[in-house]
Amino acid sequence: MSHVFDPEKLKVLEDAGRLEELPVEELTGHLVPGDVLDLGCGPGLYTSAVAEVMGGRVIGADLQPEMLDRFRKRGVPQNVELVRCIGRALPYSDGALTSVVSVHVLHEFAGDGTLEEVYRVLGDGGVLVLVDWRKQEMERGPPLEHRISVEEAREMTSSAGFSVVEERPLGPFYLLVCVNA
Ligand SMILES: C[S@@+](CC[C@H](N)C(=O)[O-])C[C@H]1O[C@@H](n2cnc3c(N)ncnc32)[C@H](O)[C@@H]1O
Repeated sequence: MSHVFDPEKLKVLEDAGRLEELPVEELTGHLVPGDVLDLGCGPGLYTSAVAEVMGGRVIGADLQPEMLDRFRKRGVPQNVELVRCIGRALPYSDGALTSVVSVHVLHEFAGDGTLEEVYRVLGDGGVLVLVDWRKQEMERGPPLEHRISVEEAREMTSSAGFSVVEERPLGPFYLLVCVNA
């Protein structure tokens, strides 16, 4: 949790253009039926989009109350529940969830036990979809030294117990699909 996103800058997270650069179907196309957790939901651009596509219960979880307050101001879809919590201590029992998505958060929680915790709350066959910034110099996004390369992400998710079933670049980002198998 060494580099948490500055809530003062949250407007950039609300830019609807993000949904063109990273269409929500890139996330939802991998999810399995059941409860979905959006870990590090911020002000909820992707949480709401996932909720619309999936139709079932979606949990938007974030560490920072400012993010959840902003999400409430923007409007929370009926099938979304907001929870303030930290990734390394999720308030769910073993195997309680079937899918977790996390967009641009891995570099903020990497190494703090969150991936192991996500593995715990996902049941057998549960899916984790991660998107994060490629580890390259860019004008946007987190500084290079905060970024986690796709190779590091693969190693971290595998160490947490996951099988990586898909890994590919998505413009300035990469996508990693991991299964609790
Ligand atoms: C870059 S923002 C991305 C927000 C959202 N996923 C999006 O793409 O619009 C990262 C978010 O993750 C949250 N976050 C970072 N570390 C976290 C942790 N360990 N547990 C829960 N939330 C975390 C931050 O508070 C912030 O809202």
